[in-house]
Amino acid sequence: MIKYHETTQIFHIQTKNTSYIFKVLETGHITQLYYGEKIGIKENYDALNQQYVSAPGNSTVYSTKSDFCLNVTPLELGIYGKGDYREPTLHLQEDDGNRTFDFLYVSHEIHEGKEKLSELASVELSEEDGQSLTILLKDEVSGVKLYLKYSVIDAANIIIRSMELVNNGSGPLKIQRMMSFNWDDRYSDYDLISLEGQWIRERHINKYALKKGRIVLDSKKGVSSSDYNPFLCLAKKTTTECTGKAYGFALIYSGSHESSVEVTPYGFTRIQMGIQSFDFEWLLKPGDFFQTPEAVLTFSAKGFNGMSQNFHQMINDYLIPKYWRRRERPILANNWEATYFDFDHNKIKALVDSAKELGIELFVLDDGWFMNRNNDRHGLGDWIVDYDKLENGIDGIAHYVHQQGLQFGLWVEPEMVNKGTALYRKHPEWIVGHPRREVSPGRNQYILDLTNDAVIDYLEEKLSNIFEHAKVDYIKWDMNRNFSDLYSSWLEPERQQEFAHRYVLGLYKLLGRLVKRFPKVLFESCSSGGNRFDLGMLAYMPQTWTSDNTDAVARYKIQYGTSYVFPLSTMGAHVSGRKSHQVLRKTPLETRFNVAAFGVLGYELDLINLSNTEREMIKEQVEFYKKHRSLFQFGDFNRLQSPFENNHMHWQVLDPDKREAILGEYQQLQEASPVLDHIDVVNLEEEASYHLACRKQHVDEETRMMSESFSIHASGDELLKAGIRPFTQFMGVGVDAYTRILGDFGSRLYLIEKE
Ligand code: GLA
Repeated sequence: MIKYHETTQIFHIQTKNTSYIFKVLETGHITQLYYGEKIGIKENYDALNQQYVSAPGNSTVYSTKSDFCLNVTPLELGIYGKGDYREPTLHLQEDDGNRTFDFLYVSHEIHEGKEKLSELASVELSEEDGQSLTILLKDEVSGVKLYLKYSVIDAANIIIRSMELVNNGSGPLKIQRMMSFNWDDRYSDYDLISLEGQWIRERHINKYALKKGRIVLDSKKGVSSSDYNPFLCLAKKTTTECTGKAYGFALIYSGSHESSVEVTPYGFTRIQMGIQSFDFEWLLKPGDFFQTPEAVLTFSAKGFNGMSQNFHQMINDYLIPKYWRRRERPILANNWEATYFDFDHNKIKALVDSAKELGIELFVLDDGWFMNRNNDRHGLGDWIVDYDKLENGIDGIAHYVHQQGLQFGLWVEPEMVNKGTALYRKHPEWIVGHPRREVSPGRNQYILDLTNDAVIDYLEEKLSNIFEHAKVDYIKWDMNRNFSDLYSSWLEPERQQEFAHRYVLGLYKLLGRLVKRFPKVLFESCSSGGNRFDLGMLAYMPQTWTSDNTDAVARYKIQYGTSYVFPLSTMGAHVSGRKSHQVLRKTPLETRFNVAAFGVLGYELDLINLSNTEREMIKEQVEFYKKHRSLFQFGDFNRLQSPFENNHMHWQVLDPDKREAILGEYQQLQEASPVLDHIDVVNLEEEASYHLACRKQHVDEETRMMSESFSIHASGDELLKAGIRPFTQFMGVGVDAYTRILGDFGSRLYLIEKE
């Protein structure tokens, strides 16, 4: 709900559990009053009104009329040139060199629902789902207008923010920095949590206490990148997974971005998020407008899990394409780690046959199906089938897969080209890079210039033909390099610094067209694994390949960290071979499943040469997953014990009716004489009685030994208050039917069902 009080000029954006309050000051600036746990709607808030009554010594005051000082005022917009010395939200330059602007309140409008942004990935809300507020600010001298946009999703405790600048002046403007939002908190006693990483080590939790100064978490790679996900969280030091205050911020954007957290000498904290300002300059001619990406803000008093669940609900119900909302995703088999580039028609058929026998529902043919693609040095760009490898072409494989009753999926990497292809020879000017300089390669490939509409049209046609002919049910959309040599032969010289953002706009244009043409195709975004796992891509593609690292133990951390923002339904998670190709670790097949089950399950290993035991195990896993699929993909997810801090990791999914939950327990290394374990359970119904049983699994794939049979009946409050006490682990001597043999990297799933 969005409420405005005329007399006090106070705006109150209220969600189910949160309040965001700000007001227009006499000067016309907008001051932030409060963001946090919900408080009642009132006309005025004396307690929130606290301001500096006189300007601190040595400060620049706003005008001769009073002691009002922007530098010590929490603001909804930080502007440059009038005495606010914090990082500005917006930095502009006029033709005559002026950089001082003063945007003041003019009017506002509140309406039901929210429209999609025309060129950017964004959220759309029906009139029932939410409300929007647009505040018009104006710089009187230049006539330039700025719209601060807010939308609210009540049920998910989400506020969406962005800004739009309209050049109503008479001369051109240069935008040098334009963030999506500004939030000034009066306090700074927070921990900052971000998700940092690298290839095959994505989204690890990075937590430290804020200190005075400015921290920037960003990407200059042209993609959102695995370095710093466009997300950050501020939490009190006492906040845990399940308790305490946590603020979450994330950007709906897939390109270079910038988040900054600045603690001022006065102890205020300024948070901003937006398009990367380095190497960015946008020319805005009179009459033109510029819209920033949307940012998502959320708050929870129920710890990091509360914050994550708000994001999860927003993504599942309001962000991903409508057709896929809460729609169950198939279990897939992907041939990449099974064959790499080395396959032919018969090998693929054999993999499909095995996949079918195991109960798998979708077969995905990965990289290597097109001409000259026997390694990663050639072939990208022409998209012509290699008939030497696939004698009946893609259509033949697709037909075979469909005949077996499976769905068919295909890998593509449309944004790229290799030198040596017909496309490159015909259009060398289509690659990103300066024509007189040698362009640096990444994975031996070059990026196609999506700022050029001709490239977008070419790709749309090429891809649509392939998708239609092969009757694809699924597409893995890959993107395997970061940007270098930023230059477009298509853009005018004065627009070259618009390139990085224009590329993202071009990408969204292409994706928008394809998703509209193929609404029922399941698109999975990928970028060397999770190098572009962001809310922008999710607005077009409901799931993302979480990481090229399929090692189950590495995935403890990757999936745990990823879940800070992204729900299980968006995380592609595959069971791969016994010895990890990424870290050379051997892990039990059951653990590989127990981890991958908390996501969109797939199998990516040699399904032809499995032992009988492995075959049996996979069949049971597939059956178990199918039975509990909606829980695994859409249940409320809670992290309970962190692999970043413990030898054990615990997490839980629970259906919203609290009838069924699955709890995962994962061990890193086996300890000698281990302590008695205890696993917390959360959010069950206190008065209900539950049956709790361990999923019967093999102890390992070498022996026929089965896991301990653990089955108990307990009331909800008992479990909530005392947790689960599983049987003791192997203690060095004695093994019977009740010994919990976990070993290195062992794991268990516990099924909790209401009776
Ligand atoms: C990337 C992807 C992998 C695989 C290969 C194919 O690395 O992340 O999953 O598709 O490309 O070249």
